[in-house]
Amino acid sequence: MEYQTLGNRALKVSRFCFGGCPMGQYGWGYVEENNLIKAINTAIDHGINFFDTSDTYGLGKSEINLGEGLGNRRSEVVIASKFGVRVEKGKTFYDNSPEYIEKALFASMKRLRTDYIDLYQVHYRDGKTPLYTVVEKLEQLKKQGYIRHAGLCNVHKEDAEEIKASGDFFITVQDEYSLACRKNEQELKMYYKDCGMNSLTWGSLGQGILTGEYDANTVFGSDDRRSREIYVNFHGEKLKSNLRIVEVIRNIAETHNVSCAAVAIRFILDYLDDSIVLAGVKNEEEVLLNIASLGWHLTKDEIDSLDKISKE
Ligand SMILES: NC(=O)c1ccc[n+]([C@@H]2O[C@H](COP(=O)([O-])OP(=O)(O)OC[C@H]3O[C@@H](n4cnc5c(N)ncnc54)[C@H](OP(=O)(O)O)[C@@H]3O)[C@@H](O)[C@H]2O)c1
Repeated sequence: MEYQTLGNRALKVSRFCFGGCPMGQYGWGYVEENNLIKAINTAIDHGINFFDTSDTYGLGKSEINLGEGLGNRRSEVVIASKFGVRVEKGKTFYDNSPEYIEKALFASMKRLRTDYIDLYQVHYRDGKTPLYTVVEKLEQLKKQGYIRHAGLCNVHKEDAEEIKASGDFFITVQDEYSLACRKNEQELKMYYKDCGMNSLTWGSLGQGILTGEYDANTVFGSDDRRSREIYVNFHGEKLKSNLRIVEVIRNIAETHNVSCAAVAIRFILDYLDDSIVLAGVKNEEEVLLNIASLGWHLTKDEIDSLDKISKE
């Protein structure tokens, strides 16, 4: 097992994090609850101690399933959840106000059946609440023992000054990153170098395209977000270039006798220093294939060929 200490602090997590978006059972096709619960426990049995969720995944269902799946194993794991995306009367908007943070946190803890969250993350900034106001509120919740650490998601260059001004308060930064999506690479590296924030990558399997399970003829049902063109990895020219990346992944996977998913994850672990890879999983089989990414390295030539094809 590979572990990483976040932000040089007391939080020690597995470098593979169980992604909780499909656990919300919304927008990923059919996802079976019992399979999720089994997958959570298998992950823990294999040394995975890091679980990411959000109050918006399935409008709370992901947190409910995680709480149920963990059962009495809560103390064995590190839970990361998020606030800031608010859904009310069918409308979705961002809210980072102190009042909403407190309300969201208590609702998340109730669903997760816990009285603290290890890593509480700003899901999206709301464009109006200054970051120091968010920090002030989170600091208070930390002193009260409701959260242990804080992180950010989906922040970019324009947020850098405010983030730097918050010192070492935020210990992680989460953004989309994979062989299919390298656009945030420089920013993730910058936040790690300048602010010591560990990178947590989401969409690490390109929403599944990098697993080698899909091809140009794949058709998703309307209950699967990947049927929509906004999920670019499965459409048009981007799909074609992703399938070229998958061919290179497949050759490397055969050499190491692991799945394509394991190679796609391993690339990030080897390429981004001290990063943690989040991958959404639906069942035990996917967990086991994904954690086979841990405990070995790609060769320099393999990294170079993946780097090259994913930049073309
Ligand atoms: N901070 C943010 O704004 C943000 C945004 C998005 C996600 N996230 C977090 O990051 C996590 C990862 O991102 P993601 O779930 O969106 O995308 P992802 O990890 O790139 O892809 C997840 C999908 O890949 C497929 N998959 C996973 N392992 C597989 C395997 N071994 N073999 C075959 N297929 C496999 C599963 O779908 P199929 O089996 O149906 O193919 C799964 O639903 C999320 O779960 C969530 O925790 C955060």
